Amino acid sequence: MPDAGVTTYSRAQVVLHWSIALLILVQFLAHDGMEHVWRAFRRGQEAAASDIPMAYMHVALGLAVLVLACWRLWLRGTRGVPPVSGMEHPALQLLAKATHFVIYALIFLLPLSGIAAWFFNVAGAGLAHVLGKDILLYVVLLHTAGALFQHFVLKTDVLRRMLSLRQA
Ligand code: HEM
Ligand code: HEM
Repeated sequence: MPDAGVTTYSRAQVVLHWSIALLILVQFLAHDGMEHVWRAFRRGQEAAASDIPMAYMHVALGLAVLVLACWRLWLRGTRGVPPVSGMEHPALQLLAKATHFVIYALIFLLPLSGIAAWFFNVAGAGLAHVLGKDILLYVVLLHTAGALFQHFVLKTDVLRRMLSLRQA
């Protein structure tokens, strides 16, 4: 059972948060190879040899996100996470929780839809993947704006606790 009174993120939770964020950033910046290979596959054409390593990198990093997301969810369930803090208004608290929920859902759905498209050629999975990445982009922008607003305007410790590696 998670500890209801937990007030910090553990070192592992902090490292997982930033590792997943970094992997997702790379997926967004370096997806051209995957797109070219995927387009060639759907048209029954030969993919350019130069695109293939980037497509495999996309698959490998995406699978890494899935593994790390499982670990992270397990830690959330067993160790727990600190309550949303610094925002007294219930609507803002709800927004923060909803944002976290949607991000969690997408760090599973994106790799799973990618797997369904790439390995099993499931109809509609590629479209779900592309729509999912758009939603993730906007939700993460909102999440980042919220974190920076809390840090610089409300001056809470919320960003610091997601940067602190002191907790075991
Ligand atoms: C969190 C993990 C992932 C993220 C953030 C991500 C992100 C992206 C992005 C940004 C694109 C370009 C879409 C576009 O603009 O058209 C894309 C395309 C694609 N990804 Fe991923 N991806 C992830 C995981 C995976 C995995 C694990 C696989 C396969 C095993 C995969 C397979 C594909 C395929 C097949 C496409 C081409 C889809 C299309 O254009 O219709 N992705 N992905
Ligand atoms: C793709 C990028 C990102 C993803 C997938 C992501 C995901 C998440 C998730 C799911 C949580 C909830 C943690 C939990 O309860 O287990 C969280 C918390 C947090 N994230 Fe991110 N995040 C990303 C980028 C960022 C960025 C760029 C910042 C800051 C500039 C940030 C700052 C924070 C902070 C401060 C918290 C703690 C919120 C709190 O304790 O109430 N995140 N993140």
